[in-house]
Amino acid sequence: MKPLEWAENKVRILDQSKLPWEEVYLELDNYQQVAWAIKEMQVRGAPTIGVTAAYGIALGAQGIEADTKDEFLDQLHHIFEVFSSTRPTAVNLFKAITRMEEVAWGEDIPQIKAALIAEANKIHIEEEQATKCISEYGAELIKDDYTILTHCNAGALATAGHGTALGITKTANEQKKRVHVFVTETRPLLQGARLTTWELMKEEIPLTLITDTMAGFFLHEGEIDCVIVGADRIAANGDVANKIGTYTIAVLAMENAVPFYVAAPTSTIDLELLSGYEIPIEGRSPEEVTYIQGVRLAPEGVEVANPAFDITPHRYVTAIITEKGIIKEPYKTNLKKITK
Ligand code: MRU
Repeated sequence: MKPLEWAENKVRILDQSKLPWEEVYLELDNYQQVAWAIKEMQVRGAPTIGVTAAYGIALGAQGIEADTKDEFLDQLHHIFEVFSSTRPTAVNLFKAITRMEEVAWGEDIPQIKAALIAEANKIHIEEEQATKCISEYGAELIKDDYTILTHCNAGALATAGHGTALGITKTANEQKKRVHVFVTETRPLLQGARLTTWELMKEEIPLTLITDTMAGFFLHEGEIDCVIVGADRIAANGDVANKIGTYTIAVLAMENAVPFYVAAPTSTIDLELLSGYEIPIEGRSPEEVTYIQGVRLAPEGVEVANPAFDITPHRYVTAIITEKGIIKEPYKTNLKKITK
């Protein structure tokens, strides 16, 4: 399964909004379609968003018809802006855009176009490699017979690689450790129920699907050995933005003395933001809450809030598992050491 690839001047994606019912691959041949796929969450998950945007920019650049370099760069700048406004929380998106901006120079237009494709491929390869290292480091924390609770989807779909939180469970499973995963459904868009279950079942890793509200019950029952989640942005002090509901699970994990691990590549760390308070939280449409898969749940006209992410303060985070190793408090010092 390749959730995302560059295919001869097209971006080929697995449409995650259709899973698990249909495995549909889309070949996107203009950058507007790629930006739309990110916004509408046909592709999602912080590292995948970054890689998709990089490919989308490379694709957009190939289609620019300009007589002068200045005209070309003007149009390219517009493409950067389109991608910057797709989703605000995952910093991987903005880091990928910055990297693409940095390589957008050269003698002539064909050279810049080639450099943009090369950089997008490089970002993809780096993310793939990072997920493999994260999985190796993280698997060291997993003992035989462990039950792991995860929230949302931090697998191959979300990372354009092996997975972060799910990558760790996959690697532990490959090491013949017996693992069992508790998967929260992750309302409103059900990334846990639709995507994490789908990925784990493909790998034949045993799992139990629960609703989000059941996490506290199973943590209190002593059924969970550790929690592992991904991240969309990690501030300089170790505060973590991740899928809405993560904070609740982190507090409940600490209350029940269960380790709470965050698995994320260094491309998710944002040292420019001092704390989680500064991380922009995406608000999404009320219909994601009032409907499930086209079925209305709530009365017409009801007031709705729909923040897509929350902030888990660093004091709840036992460790952050990165491709550079396992990072613990003091996060401020230790995250700085591993981030370029
Ligand atoms: O809204 P989504 O589905 O893009 O949110 C995804 C998450 O919150 C993931 O946990 C996060 O991006 C980490 S993926 C390795």
